[in-house]
Amino acid sequence: MAFLWITVLTILASRGIFASYRDCSNIGDIGGCDECIRCGGNWCNDPYESKRCSLDPPDGWCIGLMEKIPLENRVAEAGSHFTPKYAVSTVRIGRDESLSIQYSSKEIDPKVEFVVNTTQSSDFHVKKTTSCENGVCTTTVDVSPEINFCSAKGQTFEYFNVKLSVQNITEEAVMKFHVPCACGCSSKVELQSPRCNGRGSFSCGVCSCDKGWSGTFCETPICEKKRGDVPCTDSARSDIECSGNGVCGPCDECVCFTDRPGSQYYDQDNFCADICMTTNDCDECFHNPTPGRCDLCHFPLIRQTYNESLVAQKDDFNRKVWVTCNDTLDGCYFEYVAMKSNDQTYYMVTRSCDPTEEKQVTGGVNVTLPIVLGVIAIVAAVAATAGYIVWKNRPPALPLNDPMYQNIGAEDCTGENPLYKPPTSSFKNPTYGKW
Ligand SMILES: *[C@@H]1O[C@H](CO)[C@@H](O)[C@H](O)[C@H]1NC(C)=O
Ligand SMILES: *[C@@H]1O[C@H](CO)[C@@H](O)[C@H](O)[C@H]1NC(C)=O
Ligand SMILES: *[C@@H]1O[C@H](CO)[C@@H](O)[C@H](O)[C@H]1NC(C)=O
Ligand SMILES: *[C@@H]1O[C@H](CO)[C@@H](O)[C@H](O)[C@H]1NC(C)=O
Repeated sequence: MAFLWITVLTILASRGIFASYRDCSNIGDIGGCDECIRCGGNWCNDPYESKRCSLDPPDGWCIGLMEKIPLENRVAEAGSHFTPKYAVSTVRIGRDESLSIQYSSKEIDPKVEFVVNTTQSSDFHVKKTTSCENGVCTTTVDVSPEINFCSAKGQTFEYFNVKLSVQNITEEAVMKFHVPCACGCSSKVELQSPRCNGRGSFSCGVCSCDKGWSGTFCETPICEKKRGDVPCTDSARSDIECSGNGVCGPCDECVCFTDRPGSQYYDQDNFCADICMTTNDCDECFHNPTPGRCDLCHFPLIRQTYNESLVAQKDDFNRKVWVTCNDTLDGCYFEYVAMKSNDQTYYMVTRSCDPTEEKQVTGGVNVTLPIVLGVIAIVAAVAATAGYIVWKNRPPALPLNDPMYQNIGAEDCTGENPLYKPPTSSFKNPTYGKW
């Protein structure tokens, strides 16, 4: 016996497996059924039970919801020499089990030997004792698998075999010991379970939460504050706080809509600013009719010559690639389409009050442009930033069929947000370094 154990320890040590040894010291804190079983515990499938894993369940613990560990039926087949010749039994981690084999022998102390093989690690004890009386000998094999027996990939049942041979008997006796190494419930997984608030999968009474959520029922958001953004504070005011393009989410950060025209360009890190807002910040570039990158802009903004067939482009998700925007610059109202690709923003002017622009736009075809609204022109001249006007004039676009808006009081949407003045800086990315 000592020999076997020295060998086992040497193998484990030489492979450096000691580091991955299982820790079962705080069994009550174990959070998963499989790990509980591998520590020899009993598992409770009730999410409301505070201690889910218990070695010796106290009375009244987890009534009716304890994970059942089916026991393998004991099998015992008699052979011509051994009774039994083949035996099967179940033994749990950390418990003892013994099987006895009888045979007739003329010796008083016959030489008995055994070999062991297993599907798992060799972390188990095997001990044999033999006693003989009146020509009949009984060899009893005591086994106990220890906490490192089951590998992390162990199936519901793993096993080890003990093969016994006795001097002068040609037959061999085989004992098979089944060891529960995982839970039956582990294979039944409810994806996006309502019991986990739809934010995780449910198995063995445990929610495995999606990224960004924690808690027994995935009820707690994991919030990672990033950069210097002013957080949104109130979902009822999120059309102001989140540029009208999102709502104030559970982490007090804007969660942008994904189902609006141009929503693929909403800036999650910048109060869901849309592509028109960002581009209008650089509207001084619109004065330059030459195609190419604009040096006046703090981000890569590239002008393209108008091409009608491009405007109709759709992406793989059947969304329009080019988003229609407008702006008023020095009293001149114009419209353009914009798109973003590889952090580069492209735009093509589609309509302008400027006749030189008009040529560019229409490619020579004469089109009568609408006269600029005088009111807008005056206000634009007074206001420091034209982009702000566009922003302020935005309608509170709150379609009621948007699920994200269902419990939002729209009447609260027009108030000024005291958190950020001037308003244009509210959707400014501080790293742009313009303000
Ligand atoms: C383990 O021992 C049993 C019983 O002797 C035998 O049937 C089985 O093939 C052995 N398995 C391995 C992997 O050696
Ligand atoms: C048992 O085997 C040993 C050698 O292995 C032999 O010396 C002995 O005579 C045998 N006894 C019987 C009863 O066959
Ligand atoms: C407009 O875009 C299409 C598609 O990319 C291209 O095939 C065509 O040559 C372009 N037309 C002009 C005038 O550049
Ligand atoms: C200008 O853009 C704003 C914001 O996208 C929009 O609400 C408005 O209707 C546009 N104006 C015109 C004349 O298209």
